[in-house]
Amino acid sequence: MNKLCLLGLVVSLASQSAYADTSAAPLQDKQAFIANLIKQMTLDEKIGQLRLISIGPEMPREMIRKEIAAGRIGGTFNSITRAENRPMQDAAAKSRLKIPMFFAYDVIHGHRTIFPISLGLAASWDMDAIAKVGRVSALEAASDGIDMTFAPMVDIARDPRWGRTSEGFGEDTYLVSRISKVMVESFQGQSPAAPTSLMAAVKHFALYGAVEGGRDYNTVDMSPTKMFNDYLPPYRAAIDAGAGGVMVALNSINGVPATSNTWLMNDLLRKDWGFKGVTVSDHGAITELVRHGVARDGREAAKLAIKAGIDLSMNDSLYGEELASLLKAGEVDQADIDNAVREVLGAKYDMGLFEDPYRRIGKASDDPADTYADSRLHRAEARDVARRSLVLLENRKQTLPLKKAGTIALVGPLADAPIDMMGSWAAAGRPHQSITVREGMRQVLGDKAKVIYAKGSNVTHDKAILDYLNFLNFDAPEIVDDPRPAAVLIDEAVKAAKQSDVVVAVVGESRGMSHESSSRTTLEIPAAQRELIKALKATGKPLVLVLMNGRPLSLAWEREQADAILETWFSGTEGGNAIADVLFGDYNPSGKLAITFPRSVGQIPMYYNHLSIGRPFTPGKPGNYTSQYFEEPNGPLYPFGYGLSYSDFSLSNLSLSSKTVKQGQDLDASIVVKNTGKRDGETVVQLYLQDVTASMSRPIKELKNFHKVMLKAGEERTLHFTIKADDLKFYNGQLQWAAEPGEFRVQVGLDSQAVQQQSFELL
Ligand code: BGC
Repeated sequence: MNKLCLLGLVVSLASQSAYADTSAAPLQDKQAFIANLIKQMTLDEKIGQLRLISIGPEMPREMIRKEIAAGRIGGTFNSITRAENRPMQDAAAKSRLKIPMFFAYDVIHGHRTIFPISLGLAASWDMDAIAKVGRVSALEAASDGIDMTFAPMVDIARDPRWGRTSEGFGEDTYLVSRISKVMVESFQGQSPAAPTSLMAAVKHFALYGAVEGGRDYNTVDMSPTKMFNDYLPPYRAAIDAGAGGVMVALNSINGVPATSNTWLMNDLLRKDWGFKGVTVSDHGAITELVRHGVARDGREAAKLAIKAGIDLSMNDSLYGEELASLLKAGEVDQADIDNAVREVLGAKYDMGLFEDPYRRIGKASDDPADTYADSRLHRAEARDVARRSLVLLENRKQTLPLKKAGTIALVGPLADAPIDMMGSWAAAGRPHQSITVREGMRQVLGDKAKVIYAKGSNVTHDKAILDYLNFLNFDAPEIVDDPRPAAVLIDEAVKAAKQSDVVVAVVGESRGMSHESSSRTTLEIPAAQRELIKALKATGKPLVLVLMNGRPLSLAWEREQADAILETWFSGTEGGNAIADVLFGDYNPSGKLAITFPRSVGQIPMYYNHLSIGRPFTPGKPGNYTSQYFEEPNGPLYPFGYGLSYSDFSLSNLSLSSKTVKQGQDLDASIVVKNTGKRDGETVVQLYLQDVTASMSRPIKELKNFHKVMLKAGEERTLHFTIKADDLKFYNGQLQWAAEPGEFRVQVGLDSQAVQQQSFELL
């Protein structure tokens, strides 16, 4: 559609949308407009606005349209085309007050074009690339008639047993907060009202990533200082960036479920942080208050939720069933209901829907002839971002990049698995449109080298796990299991290896293994695949492991087997091409881990910025009473911020503009970075701070800034970091955000472990 045509559409549709009596309050004045509308609403219509339903097999479409026309539904999620959403908006136009519907969806890492999973996006440390993901996702989803996304998901994750680790941006408060802001700004564009924007509903408020034992939906118990210093800032960053919505977490926080948590939603979110948007409960969360043991029955659950500040109730019938009688009995005030309605209408207003309910749905004659057409995808953007998300973990004897010549054995259950390329929460992505590693190699190599493919093993031997993973997908089995005996599969792969110059094995997790409700007790690659790796190693051929997974894995054994390891996460629609670009050196890898890779599951939780302790590990005699496990070394296998390149980079001359700084003043830290390798490449120079002595134990280091820089072979550059007065502050025991005088260490490195250090004094 051209611009003129679009303008015409907006004008004509806007003039069609008349709301009952708007004479008292023009559309331009948001507060007055909404107050006037609320005045005209019946109680049923108000309660209807608070109802958010999922489009699925549970309720026939016709019944949904009837409910909408009767004013009993405020919004829906999970419908993903204009043609699906238009009749629902038409039904709203027939309702008494013509209040428009809104349509939401989980657009997490792409809509039709799937980008790498969030944990992979974070590994790019590239804010421009991440902004591109937000923008493309918004464009694609908005042009499918969607108004709101349940994203970004910014739960800090420090326990990789949690399956939703894949959905977030890792363990670090600063990095996740930066990304949170960029995601909100890029989803919402200039305004969430723009026809090409989505309103962002940040989730899951709050602390969902800290579920005990990494088991999904479990409880969260956390000290206030940890909450305020480490876990809350990413949500705050989204709010400060203007996120229009907040999705409330399923977990309890220190015994009080988030869904009934007045402190969380009223005191913190609305009063302290000044949030003015809409809150949404997570799926069925109001009903779950009974099982949490804080509500006797559904009636009490509805009362607790509305009193605590839940505006929209997601797939939960309790508001509809209980609010009217709670109001009559005086247990809920009219103001409780009106406040929630005001936020819902306010969000619709901010999405531009009162001005034009068809803003993102458009006219039927403009609908795409083929919703799934490849031309609707943004493949170039997806390939570019995916390349930036890959992390080179090992590269002995310069095994990589591979030559585009000779014979290559490509093996592994994930080498040709389209659905797994997309990862979990793949929105409207279609597996047949994703490029697997096999296909990517074919495209990048052409006929320059011969590739012999063999599956080599299934994802797992474990039938119960297979059934579990296949149950996750409603449409088709997630995992196609090869019925041949394991030994036959391995023999075929070994035969391929023996005929080849090098072996590339694509192994790890199927996407369902890193998913909602997919918590694990081990971080190992399943045994079936480890047997394959062992057999491949025995051939003596150079072995490259291409890993696909949505959480850190424990790779101590794999590291001994492989000559090179490339971490590729679930890399999206163009993942296979991006991986081939890196394997064959058309792109020099630049990703850095956004989460620590422990040696074993027993070390969890393991994160780089832990507090100082009284007996830090010091190597020495056994049993020296310092903090350690006696079966394996302390420390991670791969630290936060780590990742190799085909170039080498060196850091030198860390210097500070002053040895002392006054409260409120900034300081400059500079360092020289040099590309000492033979190829041009990018690296991430990371700045950490340590507050050495304070009123409380402080982290041994905390990321405060970074620069991603491109350097030509041999090039050297001086980088400057401004250490701002706020970078020295933290929430102390009284939850005051303040900087305390004393020594600070500045540490700069290419990962969180190998750093250069200087000190200064805050006066
Ligand atoms: C998830 C949310 C998601 C919602 C709607 C829930 O199960 O926890 O993250 O937004 O479903 O799909």
